[in-house]
Amino acid sequence: MSRVVAHQFGVPSQFLAYEPCDMPAVDAGCALVRMQASPINPSDLIPVTGAYRHRTTLPFVPGFEGIGMVMDVGEGADRNLIGRRVLPLGTAGCWQTWKVLSADWCVAVPDDIDDERAATAYINPLTALLMVRTLALRAGDAIGINAAGSAIGRMLVRMVAAAGARPFAIVRSRSAYDALQDEPADVVREGATLPPLNAGLDAVGGVSGARLAAAIVPGGLLIHYGLMSGQPLRDAGKAKLMLFRLRDSVHAMPRAEFHASMDKSFAEIRAGRASCSICANYPLEAYRDALAHNARDGRQGKILLRP
Ligand SMILES: NC(=O)c1ccc[n+]([C@@H]2O[C@H](COP(=O)([O-])OP(=O)(O)OC[C@H]3O[C@@H](n4cnc5c(N)ncnc54)[C@H](OP(=O)(O)O)[C@@H]3O)[C@@H](O)[C@H]2O)c1
Repeated sequence: MSRVVAHQFGVPSQFLAYEPCDMPAVDAGCALVRMQASPINPSDLIPVTGAYRHRTTLPFVPGFEGIGMVMDVGEGADRNLIGRRVLPLGTAGCWQTWKVLSADWCVAVPDDIDDERAATAYINPLTALLMVRTLALRAGDAIGINAAGSAIGRMLVRMVAAAGARPFAIVRSRSAYDALQDEPADVVREGATLPPLNAGLDAVGGVSGARLAAAIVPGGLLIHYGLMSGQPLRDAGKAKLMLFRLRDSVHAMPRAEFHASMDKSFAEIRAGRASCSICANYPLEAYRDALAHNARDGRQGKILLRP
């Protein structure tokens, strides 16, 4: 039994530690999950840097999504969960052998969704679904999407196109430009002139976010949901700015609505719009190699840690 843990804030590759841990107790209403796979997402690494230190308690185990098997449940929890493949969501802690969580945050995985697709079925697919729903797209709307080669960028491109709108996929690297050529989008490099856009989805902030905002027609929506550049979005131009954080949305939802939303994520995965490719698997103890791979330029696809 082991875990990857942050005892102090700092650069994840230097400040995370791998250590043995004890079998946790299963409190009433909780489930004990044997973790099987968990991806490395940007949102897992940001809290390790200390960016959210005002609301992060040390020590903590990163990993906001993943797949595992329910091995036991506490008093009052649904015993039918035992033996089920689930996504143990709602809290961090997937980068360890065992995760204990409130049983009503366990999302049962349909049999036709394999472990790799299930492990990445929550954060990016559900964020993309909820943001596209917020856009209330009309046929022909032009929608700008930056960091479009990212896992969520590709999902957004496909969902926007499936809704009858026209995605403009904005990428910074040649490798992302080439990789997106088969997607249903106009693909452009950062800095290229954009057409007038009805709305935009910004995962970058800084200069890229400001350029995207400047192309949006007055009153059009700019959803800012990521900060890949590390620079704040300083200028939303004449666009209407909205910040999106998945955590805020799902924690505010009645739990039944959350489970229904996850059913839609699985449906988007089946349709091929919300699946993301996995480029490598690493045992948990090789987390430093996994983080180095994750930071490589031109990486296409997600990396899974295997506790
Ligand atoms: N707000 C929310 O609730 C929420 C939910 C899900 C995701 N997100 C955000 O969405 C973003 C993407 O997540 P992901 O899991 O899809 O990431 P990912 O698959 O790991 O992809 C990240 C890609 O973005 C590109 N990139 C990195 N820095 C960039 C920069 N400064 N400018 C432009 N492109 C850059 C890189 O591609 P190239 O090297 O090819 O350029 C990189 O491969 C993250 O910021 C994440 O926090 C937010």
